[in-house]
Amino acid sequence: MNINDKSQITTYQASEQRYDKMTYNRSGKSGVLLPALSLGLWHNFGFVDNIQNGRDILRCAFDHGITHFDLANNYGPPYGSAEENFGTIFKKDFKPYRDELFIASKAGYDMWPGPYGNYGSRKYLIASIDQSLKRMGLDYVDIFYHHRPDPETPLEETMGALADIVRQGKALYVGISNYQPKETHEAAEILKHLNVPFILHQARYSMFDRWVEGGLLNTLNKNGVGCIAFSPLAQGMLTDKYINGIPEGSRASKSMGHLNEDAVYQNIEKIKKLSEMAKSRGQKLSQMAIAWILRQPQVASVLIGASSAKQLKENVIALDNLVFTEEELQMIDAILN
Ligand SMILES: NC(=O)c1ccc[n+]([C@@H]2O[C@H](COP(=O)([O-])OP(=O)(O)OC[C@H]3O[C@@H](n4cnc5c(N)ncnc54)[C@H](OP(=O)(O)O)[C@@H]3O)[C@@H](O)[C@H]2O)c1
Repeated sequence: MNINDKSQITTYQASEQRYDKMTYNRSGKSGVLLPALSLGLWHNFGFVDNIQNGRDILRCAFDHGITHFDLANNYGPPYGSAEENFGTIFKKDFKPYRDELFIASKAGYDMWPGPYGNYGSRKYLIASIDQSLKRMGLDYVDIFYHHRPDPETPLEETMGALADIVRQGKALYVGISNYQPKETHEAAEILKHLNVPFILHQARYSMFDRWVEGGLLNTLNKNGVGCIAFSPLAQGMLTDKYINGIPEGSRASKSMGHLNEDAVYQNIEKIKKLSEMAKSRGQKLSQMAIAWILRQPQVASVLIGASSAKQLKENVIALDNLVFTEEELQMIDAILN
C-alpha cells in the first residue's frame, strides 16, 4: 500500500482522551516524564512492512497517551527504512504534535560499510545523527543513544560525541544502551563532568532475562538515571500467541535471527504456567509481563513492540493492574526458576 496514494490519505486528529489513562513516570532524576509504555519501531516499520499498518500502530499508540517512540539508525530492514517510514508518517500525521512527542534514535551497531559506520567513534555518531534527522524530517531528537558499548574506542570519545550532539542542538538528552553497570557508572561520571543530561539506559529486561537485577538498576539509581526496558515480552514469547504452536507470520516463524522456534519450545512450559497465573489475576500474559517490569521503581518505561494496533491496545490494558502480592511474585520466581 502506498501512503502517498490520495485514496489512503485521511486526516489524523489525535484522540482528545489521549492523556486520560496513561501513567507518566519520571526518568531518573531528570525533568522528563515518560509514558509507562513506549513504542519501539525495531520491527514492523521497515520498507519490507506495510506502512499503513505502521501508521495505524503509531496513531493508536499516541491516542492512548504513548508519547515516546523509539527508533535507531539501523531499524528496518533495510537499515534506515524505519526512520524513513516514520518520517513519512510523522509529516502526514504527527507534525502538529511534535512538542507532545519524545522521539529517540541511536547509533552503535552496523549501519554503513567501511570503518566509520559501526561502534562508537565520534566520526560515526556525528554522521549518524545527521542521517537520522534527515530520514525522519526532524530538527532534533529528544534523546540520542549510544546503542552498545565499543570495547576499542575510549569512552571519553564516545561520550564527548554525545555531548557535542546535544550542544549542536541535535538532541536534547542522551542515553546509552546495553552497557554493563561498571561502564554505565563511568559513562555517567564523564557525562556529569561534561554537563550533559544523561537520563536513560535502555536495557533488555523481561521475566526471561533478568540481568539488570544483578547490579544495573542499583547503578542507575545511584547515578539518578532512569531505565527503559526493551523486549519486555521476550519478543512475543511472554504472550499467549505461542501456546498452541508457532503461528504463521509471527516473529518466531520468520528467519530473521532474532527469535527462533527453539527458544519458544524451550520456554513453552513456563509460558503456559505464567499464562494460567495471569488469568488468575484477570490479565493476559502480555499484560502481566509488562506490569511485572513496572514494579521496579527505577524503570520509567516499558518499551514494547507491536505488529498490530490490536496488540498495542491489549498491552495498554496492563496498566489497569500493576499491583502484585508478595505471594504472586514468589510464584512467578518459582515458575521462572
Ligand atoms: N537497545 C537495543 O539494543 C534494543 C534491542 C531490541 C529492541 N529494542 C527496542 O525495544 C523495542 C521493543 O522490542 P521488541 O519488539 O523485542 O519487544 P517485545 O514487546 O518483547 O516484542 C514485541 C513483539 O511481541 C509480539 N506481541 C506484542 N504484543 C502482543 C500481544 N498482545 N499478543 C501477541 N503478541 C504480541 C509481536 O510479535 P509478532 O510479530 O510475532 O506479532 C511484537 O512485535 C524495539 O522496537 C526497539 O525500539 C532495543
